[in-house]
Amino acid sequence: MQFSAKVFEASKQRTACAIIPVDAKNRFTASGTALDEACGGAISTLLKRKDLDSKLGATQLLPMTEGPAERVLLVRSGEGVLSQADFRKLAGASAKAVKGYKDAVSYLTELEVSDADSTWQAQQLTLAAGLAGYKFTRCLSDAKPYPLAKFHVQVPERKLLNAVKKGVEIGAAQASGSNLARELGNLPGNICTPTYLVGQAKEMAKQHPKITTSVVDAKKMASLGMGAFLSVAKGSDEPPALIAMQYKGGKAGQKPVVLVGKGITFDTGGISLKPGQAMDEMKFDMCGAASVFGVMAALAELQPAINVVCLVAAAENMPSGGASKPGDIVTSMSGKTIEILNTDAEGRLVLCDALTYAAKFKPEVVIDVATLTGACVIALGNPASGLYANQDELASQLIAAGERSGDRAWRMPLWDEYQPMLDSNFADMQNIGGREAGSVTAACFLSRFAEDYTWAHLDIAGSAWYSGGNKGATGRPVPLLIEYLLNK
Ligand code: BES
Ligand code: MN
Ligand code: ZN
Repeated sequence: MQFSAKVFEASKQRTACAIIPVDAKNRFTASGTALDEACGGAISTLLKRKDLDSKLGATQLLPMTEGPAERVLLVRSGEGVLSQADFRKLAGASAKAVKGYKDAVSYLTELEVSDADSTWQAQQLTLAAGLAGYKFTRCLSDAKPYPLAKFHVQVPERKLLNAVKKGVEIGAAQASGSNLARELGNLPGNICTPTYLVGQAKEMAKQHPKITTSVVDAKKMASLGMGAFLSVAKGSDEPPALIAMQYKGGKAGQKPVVLVGKGITFDTGGISLKPGQAMDEMKFDMCGAASVFGVMAALAELQPAINVVCLVAAAENMPSGGASKPGDIVTSMSGKTIEILNTDAEGRLVLCDALTYAAKFKPEVVIDVATLTGACVIALGNPASGLYANQDELASQLIAAGERSGDRAWRMPLWDEYQPMLDSNFADMQNIGGREAGSVTAACFLSRFAEDYTWAHLDIAGSAWYSGGNKGATGRPVPLLIEYLLNK
């Protein structure tokens, strides 16, 4: 999809669909008024029939026979200055309504939003349009993607041109990064294997001169002492991989941000086998990895002057004669020993070795992203990712990035009181902490491998995909991470 920002003259601008806000008192903004005049008052005549619901975010599509727009989408914008959350509703509702047309011009930037500039408005509109334009078609025999090819954002005043352009650029990169993450997430486990992700990472390096890719394979993992990582892959016929993609946009000496993604391409639970109900959704257990791929793609698009390393801890968790068993004890790369009491707590086992490996890049900060615990889904549901951090400043920056992008996170505790729940009678620690505070004890486990640097962990088990009728990957937390990286 192509995105652009321009000063449009609504009375003349030809488009398949013009998106026009209408406030609680049926008033237009400047462009709405101009467009209404250009079609002989047809829009206000139709509005008087009261078909446009009064609820904020309600939409009504008007097919036009007069004027430069083939269709007009009316969007109810409520009263006075909008909150950011309300503007996001309008962005989402209008994006959904226009995805079936070949292009659209959004005049919603003529609205006023509290504590938000036109860069933010343009970014939100573009992100919403980009996300609405995605559909998983790869495995359909008769694929019909959405037709929306061009999405234009109105620049309300000429002096705002650069500000709006910047917002469009960021929103477009966030959308394409999220959509890559969604595509990888939605791919089934028989296609998207660890080896497939390796191919994807190599392709990334081939396409972009600022990206290089290297791979730690099983043999190298063994020589590095990654006993925890290898214990997860042992039961599978698919070889594991620890992938490193490096984006070098900054100076050579500049410390990188290291992102680490959980890439379990299918999680059966292993010998601690999961129940059959909804087990298909465990193809999404690589959504953390998918999100770091999305971030890489966005960086390649935006080319910011920073250094970022993305690590992908890829493996498949299967039961077999070669699989790890409850009670097995393994030695991680850090030297710490782990008693595996539940083979379904596998994410932390691949991540702990990836976190130890991350130190090799002399990171400024390390952020891991993982569909780590069902307990996080129970605690926060879909709206928020669970955020843990060993430094308050990093936590605040990530929360702020989530608020600004609309891809929100909520901080959870990493208190010492939780740590003893991981005590083992037979090893340095066990890989589960019991039923209570399951998301917290998983984070506590990871924290033991991130003591040497500033670190945060995003548990995206609830936010990374939708279940039910809308089943599919969301691409989160790509927008949050991009927002964070651009503010560095
Ligand atoms: N990938 C799952 C977490 C998960 C479960 C995410 C359901 C989304 C929905 C993870 O590997 C896992 O199985 N975690 C266990 C940990 C437990 C054994 C301590 C869980 O959450 O049940
Ligand atoms: Mn599991
Ligand atoms: Zn898992």
